[in-house]
Amino acid sequence: MPRVKQFAFVVLGILFLAATTQAKFTAETPQKSGFVRLDRVTASRATAIGIEIHSGPAVLQITALRDDVLRVRVGPAGQLPEDASWAVLPAAHTSTVAVTAENSSASIGFKTAKLRVTIHRDPLELHVTDLDGHVIAEQLADRPIEYHGNSFRVYMKSPSDEHYFGLGDKPGPLDRRNEAFTDWNTDAFGWQESTDPIYKSIPWFVTFNKGIAAGIFLDNTWRTSFDFNKEYRDAYSFGAENGPLDYYILYGPSPKTVVQSWAWLTGTTPLPPLWAFGFQQSRYSYYPEAEVRRIASRMRSERIPADVLWLDIDYQQKNRPFTVDPERFPTFDQMIKDLRAQHLHTVVITDLHIADLPNMHYKPYDEGTAGDHFVKNPDGSTYVGVVWPGKAVFPDFTQKQSREWWGTLYSDFVSKGIAGFWNDMNEPAIFEVASKTMPDDIQHRIEEPGFATRTANHLEIHNVFGMENSRGTFEGLLKIAPDSRPFVMTRASYAGGHRYAATWTGDNSSTWNHLRQTTPQLLNLGLSGFSVAGADVGGFAGSPQPELLTRWLQLAAFQPIDRDHTAKGTNAQEPWEDGSPEDLNLRRRYIEERYRLMPYLYTTAEEMSRTGLPIMRPLFLEFPGAPSDHQAIDPTISNEFLLGHDLLIAHSPYPDEMDDLFVSLPAIGWYDYWTGAHIDGTGTRKNIDNSISAPSGVHLHRSLDTLPVYVRAGAIVPQQPLVQSTDEKPEGPLTLRVYPPDGFNQDCSGSIYIDDGISYAFRKGDFLRVNFTCRITPQGLIVAVTAPTGTFTPWWKLFSVEVYGATKPAIEASYSGLDGSGVSPISTSYDQEHHRITALVPDNGKGMELKLAY
Ligand code: NOJ
Repeated sequence: MPRVKQFAFVVLGILFLAATTQAKFTAETPQKSGFVRLDRVTASRATAIGIEIHSGPAVLQITALRDDVLRVRVGPAGQLPEDASWAVLPAAHTSTVAVTAENSSASIGFKTAKLRVTIHRDPLELHVTDLDGHVIAEQLADRPIEYHGNSFRVYMKSPSDEHYFGLGDKPGPLDRRNEAFTDWNTDAFGWQESTDPIYKSIPWFVTFNKGIAAGIFLDNTWRTSFDFNKEYRDAYSFGAENGPLDYYILYGPSPKTVVQSWAWLTGTTPLPPLWAFGFQQSRYSYYPEAEVRRIASRMRSERIPADVLWLDIDYQQKNRPFTVDPERFPTFDQMIKDLRAQHLHTVVITDLHIADLPNMHYKPYDEGTAGDHFVKNPDGSTYVGVVWPGKAVFPDFTQKQSREWWGTLYSDFVSKGIAGFWNDMNEPAIFEVASKTMPDDIQHRIEEPGFATRTANHLEIHNVFGMENSRGTFEGLLKIAPDSRPFVMTRASYAGGHRYAATWTGDNSSTWNHLRQTTPQLLNLGLSGFSVAGADVGGFAGSPQPELLTRWLQLAAFQPIDRDHTAKGTNAQEPWEDGSPEDLNLRRRYIEERYRLMPYLYTTAEEMSRTGLPIMRPLFLEFPGAPSDHQAIDPTISNEFLLGHDLLIAHSPYPDEMDDLFVSLPAIGWYDYWTGAHIDGTGTRKNIDNSISAPSGVHLHRSLDTLPVYVRAGAIVPQQPLVQSTDEKPEGPLTLRVYPPDGFNQDCSGSIYIDDGISYAFRKGDFLRVNFTCRITPQGLIVAVTAPTGTFTPWWKLFSVEVYGATKPAIEASYSGLDGSGVSPISTSYDQEHHRITALVPDNGKGMELKLAY
């Protein structure tokens, strides 16, 4: 290394050390601080990676983790809070980037390659802008950070055209503007659109204004709260009752970059097993064994493609986790095997409340007690709360060793062939108490790399308890079967919990409003990291009308997790129940469509696992900007979403109404997924006052048999022949549905990713990825398939290339191998009803090019 560079590194290192040692942190929270107001800068010091500011007794530190990621920490009594996180990955946590100090008489601050941070000295006001001057976050001078005891609040300016997204699956519209929320994990049976809080706490939101996005993460596990323009029209705010003021600002400018940076900070969801994307049937509860077997057989005899059956609490003996009721399930082990032979995976519930059964030979209790693994009362005795099994005790999931012990409990079930596990009730839910959870003063032990080893009260741990429960399950399963991808479903979680588990939106209801809610909830979950998510299809509380169940099954066929589940005492809700033959046909047809689209869905899931981009995407994620000659898409649209990059699903904003609907389509070309017809996408819309506005889109008449689905022009969507479960190898060609772009020189692409669906062999190269492109030339269309990467053997030998939007047969077609094999003419067929030309082309595994004149 040259000397000058070496010297610079040493200086940087010293400055960094100085920065971190001056701002010593306290291991304990809370720190009593009385009233503190950070209203003017009393001292400041530039550091190599940011700035440290004093305002009276308080210290405020701003550091750059990357050029586009900042961290802000405040210590009201002069000491920064403990530098530890349950959410942030160690690599991100320790990441730093050098900054350039920028000072003037009125302000201090710094610049990175992407952001400018300016702190006005008096009054103290933080401004973060990008280098073009677009405001990312701006504190209000008249509303400085204040501490009242241990509670604090941060106010930021809110332009009237700014929108807010994220915060997990909190009910309500997609846009969080005009709403206020609390994070406190809550068992919220029968929640409604305005219920808050529900099960998860993900104190992370995305801001979006004039096409530019950023994100804010308040890394605080205590009870936190968020207010978007409710308290003040011109401000949003966030705060907590206690714990650290430690927040991150993630800059886009594109919403996709923000979401990917969120994944950089908190991780991605590892690729789930393929079967998790199949149709799943559940209810509270299928028993006895004969009933489970009946459901499995009926699923197959009705030819409803399916991959998973779920066993809810009644399979257990007296609701005791990790037991099986031998009377209800006399041949449980054989049943699991028989279901597997029918290509059905079994997922069982394993709640965290261990029955309080001393001297009863109940292994989880005996082992947990011997290992001192249970959460304690302030006097040191074991805390006992009442849940499904009656009196129960609770593992201390914030202790690494207790999580590890918890993980070992799964080995028996894994050896029986149970495929996945359901961590429910982990807010934690406690019965017979008004708070619905543990008392505030319950003692949790923290024994965790990165944290000071200490005891914390429940107020601090409550919101991470469910996440650490699912982490124990996930990591335990990996230890038991290191080459098998775990499938864990959790109800409660915290930011970063998507690293360990899929989730669902809890106990919704069988109402039209709840069907409508699924889209904004799953979209906001995806923006918050939880992409592998679903809502109970058909609704949990109550019984759906036949049409509601049909429409729900249609919509859920295009959502990441498709699980039909319902409560005890409700009507049967399997797809064949309670409807006309037409209902059954429609329900089956949409589930079948999901299976045909499995290559596309799985390819999207694989992308998600690498990049953090959600499987289900709000329109503004894909279309953040306004094309210059068109109006921008409304970012607050709550009833439309994209499945992956290319499919747009639009259900009615009021699904129980019979009115026509207007589907907004971003102003590019689109095709109707069902008819294959090209849509010009420039409809007009009649506003309430009868004026006409002209966003792009289409008017539709409602019909029960069609859920509106559109495909982006320039997409190539892979599809497979129908199978009854993902176990089955599809027979026939890989279909490439080609939707030509609207003109020359426009992008047209797609890809497929496949692997064995269950193991981690893909990490060693045993996968197959093939990319597709198309382009329009004066002679016609050229579709190209690249040579695959990876070693996995494909199930197809042929491509069925289907070109959509065709209004007449092809004039001529030929293909050639990319390996130099010669040009061969090829015959095509034309299907007028579906506007498609089809050519069957052999796949020699080396790539090919198809030329079509039409
Ligand atoms: C509550 C869950 O939310 C629900 O899905 C489940 O069926 C019941 N607990 C019973 O385990």
